[in-house]
Amino acid sequence: MLKIQPKSSFVGKNQIYLTSCHSTNDIASEKIQNREAIDGTVIVTDHQTAGRGQRGNQWQSDTGKNVLMSIIVFPDFLKFENQFNLSICTAVSIFETLSFFSNQNIKIKWPNDMYINEKKVGGVLIETGISGQKFSHAIVGIGLNILQTEFENPKSTSLAVQNPEKSFNRDRIIEKLLGVFEENYFLLKENKTSVLKEKYMDNLLWLNEEKKFSDSNGPFGGKIVDVINDGRLKIEVENKIKYYDIKEITYLFHD
Ligand code: BTN
Repeated sequence: MLKIQPKSSFVGKNQIYLTSCHSTNDIASEKIQNREAIDGTVIVTDHQTAGRGQRGNQWQSDTGKNVLMSIIVFPDFLKFENQFNLSICTAVSIFETLSFFSNQNIKIKWPNDMYINEKKVGGVLIETGISGQKFSHAIVGIGLNILQTEFENPKSTSLAVQNPEKSFNRDRIIEKLLGVFEENYFLLKENKTSVLKEKYMDNLLWLNEEKKFSDSNGPFGGKIVDVINDGRLKIEVENKIKYYDIKEITYLFHD
């Protein structure tokens, strides 16, 4: 890997590159524990032996083809009740990066998955630490499929698969992402969260569309109308409003 040179002032200035590791989020956590991490440190790898996803899932990725990285930040300014804004900041940053490289139908799937043409191209795993009344650190783990062309899961895709006429360089994508993440992180820090929220909602998959979902009671039709401050999804179902946490609802694609 060539040195990544993001246009940023602190995100990615300190870089740790590993050809292989268990999980960049775990390496980030070790660096924080050993006090070896500074704000904006980025860990990038070509291969993870124990990549972790949301809800205890594994995150699998072909070696050297995709973005597998963790950004360490120290968001001591972030109030606990506004924690979801870091998810918004990250999702918007990935969205803006992918949109810079591709004009396909890119969407943020609540809470912070990334979709192209209704297939999953990336995901985020944020892990935070608390000290007293503040966040001591956040590890923003990002997995983005760039050059991989074959997937076990038919609902997964990559930038290359969705843009067969284009060629992509993973490290240029990381550079762009780090620069954009920093810009959005500054918005978060300056409390300009309405700007972030607007960008998030403008690009949210299935917003204000009548779609099918399922919950513990089975399949149902409904319309996403908002994402509220604590990160829950607000859905209108037969003129009633329902709120869902991440584990409580599944989107039913192509049904
Ligand atoms: C998801 O389930 O959608 C989230 C996937 C997050 C994967 C990334 S890859 C880099 C970082 N290290 C991990 O172990 N997970 C995250």
